[in-house]
Amino acid sequence: MNKDLKNILFTQEEIQKKVKEIAAQLNEDYKGEEVIFVCVLKGSLPFYADLVREVKFPVTFDMVCVSSYGSNSESSGTLKIKLDSGVPFEGKNVLIVEDILDTGNTLSNLLAHFAKRNPKSIKLCCLLDKPSRRLRDIEADYKGFEIPDEFVVGYGLDYAEKYRELPYIGVLKPEVYQNN
Ligand code: PRP
Repeated sequence: MNKDLKNILFTQEEIQKKVKEIAAQLNEDYKGEEVIFVCVLKGSLPFYADLVREVKFPVTFDMVCVSSYGSNSESSGTLKIKLDSGVPFEGKNVLIVEDILDTGNTLSNLLAHFAKRNPKSIKLCCLLDKPSRRLRDIEADYKGFEIPDEFVVGYGLDYAEKYRELPYIGVLKPEVYQNN
């Protein structure tokens, strides 16, 4: 385990099992359909890469890069779009793939932004859900794990751009972020 972590929340095996379960549900719901999978960079990258390889319907890759946090640990509530989606959504199924739904600020703003492009359907798939922190009325259509209000990193999730490469998800020791 990385020395900056207090404990591991989900092992690599547990995450991979959960990704397969989510994909099985998607395979039922989108059977015979084509879907644009939008990767919300950067945190969703590992989840996205694992998920697309488990689905059995045609997927178009797309990505956006947004941020609500900067280098702080608190959401600013304002969405910054650094890279916008390049694929036309008109009449298409769109699935937004996210690592974590926290305050809901990012996804609420992103859903409103995408809805203007008249997709056939738009759904949200989040690996982690932290409902205790929610500030907006939003729920994921597909979700992996519900987690307590702790600072989690790994499997794409960062603190100040670190720990994204860890294959598991763990809780960061408070002293790592409290002294910054
Ligand atoms: C994280 C995460 C979501 C957002 C969720 O992104 O990937 O996009 O925060 O938080 P919210 O529900 O409170 O809005 P972040 O801004 O940290 O960027 P990153 O994916 O590049 O790490």
